[in-house]
Amino acid sequence: MLVCYLTDEPGKIPAIRAALEPRYAVVPRVLGQEPIFAPSGVLMVDADLREGERVEQIKNVMRDLDAINEKLFVVHRHLHHLVAQAYALGATGVVHSVKQATSRLTQIEAEIRAAETGLDSPPTWMTDCGKAFAAMYSAIGSGKTIHLADAETVTTQIIASISQNGLNGWLDNVRKYHEGTFQHCLLVTGIAVAFALDIKFTSQDVKRLGIAATLHDIGKARIPLSILDKPGRLNPKEEDIMKQHPLIGYDLLKDIPGISIETLDAVKHHHEYLDGSGYPDALASPQISDLVRLLTISDIFAALIEARPYRAAMPREEAYKILSDMNGKLETSLVKAFRRAALAA
Ligand SMILES: [Fe+2]
Ligand SMILES: [Fe+2]
Repeated sequence: MLVCYLTDEPGKIPAIRAALEPRYAVVPRVLGQEPIFAPSGVLMVDADLREGERVEQIKNVMRDLDAINEKLFVVHRHLHHLVAQAYALGATGVVHSVKQATSRLTQIEAEIRAAETGLDSPPTWMTDCGKAFAAMYSAIGSGKTIHLADAETVTTQIIASISQNGLNGWLDNVRKYHEGTFQHCLLVTGIAVAFALDIKFTSQDVKRLGIAATLHDIGKARIPLSILDKPGRLNPKEEDIMKQHPLIGYDLLKDIPGISIETLDAVKHHHEYLDGSGYPDALASPQISDLVRLLTISDIFAALIEARPYRAAMPREEAYKILSDMNGKLETSLVKAFRRAALAA
């Protein structure tokens, strides 16, 4: 479940993360600083409601996030007279401490789960990921810039979901509810995150790899659909066009505020091989970073286990065998380390 934590004190963010992650996908935002993207889940507001400016900022946020049903306000006990103010701003619940907030979140999550049981609809977190991808792709289509916040939202959701339910449920849901490029990007990110969690990466590093995976094929937003969704193999000319997507992705992202050099490197170089036979720059192994090596393994594996219009999805054992046989192209020790995450039952 997504928890968008809105505060006027950035110093409070680490404690909230420590209390709620990885069970919940926490997207922290400082009031008045960054745009908020939270299609569902819970909005948690922890700010000083005595400040007129804060109250105005919160009113604006509440207007933007009208679609979110649950709006939890943290009002510290000694400021209990502000509870009425919280409800006037649109709170659906008020808590007095992080501990209380945690138990209220557990309740909300159980209620959402109960409401979803028996319905043949995707879980909310899955819909959120789809919406965030759609927002990024439509921004590119209409010439607007992508918000890094959307990529962070998807990545945080995926990390929370895989930490809680493992990779299998994730793969099943993605294949059931998403198609084409979105399906591919969600699968690559899920696989990369499961890989990073399995080899005990720090949460910071899981997120670094996750963001790179979420954005790795964003350049495909500019590849004609006739090529992207072609129900058959691409001819050499179409293949040349398709092979432009890493550079297009790099160009689309390079000026976005907050984007890291390593994410840009991963977007541009995820089709490079250690033996220099990849594209677009035919890099040699010393020029290929560890992050890119991990991403490339996850990307190839995801592509193999996807169903394509011209071939059925490959069983995971078979896909892993193909990776293992790509001598000289992928880092052998990483492919070996990937085995457990790839084949986890
Ligand atoms: Fe790609
Ligand atoms: Fe890819």
